[in-house]
Amino acid sequence: MKTNRLLLAGLILASVSLSAQNTLQLNVDQAQTTIKPEIYGHFSEHLGTCIYGGIYVGENSKIPNIHGYRTDVVTALKEMKIPVLRWPGGCFADTYHWKDGIGPKENRPSIVNVHWGGVTEDNSFGTHEFLDFCELIGTEPYLSINVGSGTVQEATEWVEYVTSSNESPMTELRKKNGREDPWKVKFWGIGNETWGCGGDMRPEHYADVYRNFSSYVRVNDAQKIAVGPSGDDYNWTEKMMENLKDKRHLVQGLSLHYYTLPTGSWVGSKGSSTNFGEDEWFQTLKRTLNVDEYIKKHLEVMDKFDPEKQVGLAVDEWGTWYDPLPGTNPGFLQQQNTLRDALVAGVNLNIFNNHADRVIMANIAQVINVLQSVILTKDDKMVLTPTYYVFKMYNVHQGAKLIPTTLKCEDYEYKGEKIPAVNASSSVKDGVMSITLCNMNPNKAEAIECSFNGAQEFKTVSGKIINAQNITDYNDFGQAEKVNMKDFTVAKPKNGKLSVELPAHSVVLVQLQK
Ligand code: AHR
Repeated sequence: MKTNRLLLAGLILASVSLSAQNTLQLNVDQAQTTIKPEIYGHFSEHLGTCIYGGIYVGENSKIPNIHGYRTDVVTALKEMKIPVLRWPGGCFADTYHWKDGIGPKENRPSIVNVHWGGVTEDNSFGTHEFLDFCELIGTEPYLSINVGSGTVQEATEWVEYVTSSNESPMTELRKKNGREDPWKVKFWGIGNETWGCGGDMRPEHYADVYRNFSSYVRVNDAQKIAVGPSGDDYNWTEKMMENLKDKRHLVQGLSLHYYTLPTGSWVGSKGSSTNFGEDEWFQTLKRTLNVDEYIKKHLEVMDKFDPEKQVGLAVDEWGTWYDPLPGTNPGFLQQQNTLRDALVAGVNLNIFNNHADRVIMANIAQVINVLQSVILTKDDKMVLTPTYYVFKMYNVHQGAKLIPTTLKCEDYEYKGEKIPAVNASSSVKDGVMSITLCNMNPNKAEAIECSFNGAQEFKTVSGKIINAQNITDYNDFGQAEKVNMKDFTVAKPKNGKLSVELPAHSVVLVQLQK
């Protein structure tokens, strides 16, 4: 009797703690804009063990490999579906001279990686190794040209070496180095963070430098990306757009870099990647949500000078940035990846989806072993991070039509501050509707009711969930996974309405088919 009463009380409490106030209206009849697959892009830099040890171990390694590329990593990236990969940096790109990385490996010069740990870079992974890797995993390459310490001639020769099918000294050199046919490169970045590590330039100056480089970097139907702002630097966007407005054909995208730091400060501690409480959970998610406002405001500035909206926004560096793991080289930017990172990834990807009309690409930093990675490696071992599972879950949105949504939800309040508890986006492809939902509240399940304009009957409903017992849970080498993707049961819609109960701190995918 006593047990029954307790059970009843528990059930009442559980239903009280679920909110019925959250609604998501899906305007299915307005699904027009394609979500570019490249929004699910990645970034690989010669930094720490991203390239060496992470992607590339060399053909003579004991670690199983395909022409020097780790077999486990190749398989995992293919399964996740990686549409575009940026290389060779980052800050490294503006110290990189591509001719150092071609030809017989024993003749390639070693250089010092001045930005990242001062380690020796032997150039054994260069243009051929990167572009062949992209072909192997089926991804579009995005090459970042050295503007900070490079020349226009060096840049044009790289373009010719990589993409030309004419007879020329550069194509002869390419053939001599073993590659007969040109590669296809879809994106070229002209400089990286030229306001900082890429040359410390003022926007007016870089705009002129950009015009100069871009008029010689002839890449036919590929897209050229100019260095854009960091975070909320609207002045940089204004000056760039103003100074390029008469030369819009030279620029297809403007980049945006925004990193999520729990403390919000580059000075002092940024916060631990694993050892945190609700305070840092809340602050991290609050700061990551800022990107929505930044995108909106940068687009407003861009539209003033580009009313035809020809220039897109490429968020080509984003993700969490914590303190380096204790005992690691601080220049290697190694961090763990918890359930918190899964929420950060889910929220950002929903935001990018919802701006699919103007966000042409986004690249999380960085693909392996650096910052918010999808994969971590240690010797011959590999870990798939919570962020990996989010990218795998969300790949259903790649190339789908965005369904505009209206979300009304309650707040998640913490110590007098608040953010929306739920974050969502939705798309449709091949008759399958996909809704991705994040519950940022770590203490409370959220019930949400979805209604549909323009689609009523659904025969099948299925779901997936990424969650864990604790917000600090992560996957570690040699241990069973604590955070991964599991099946999630969702009841069929009733009277045209779908009710989903999102457990606390979870990322959920619901798919519906007529
Ligand atoms: O991703 C790490 C670094 O962050 C990149 O090299 C640079 O572009 C940014 O500041």
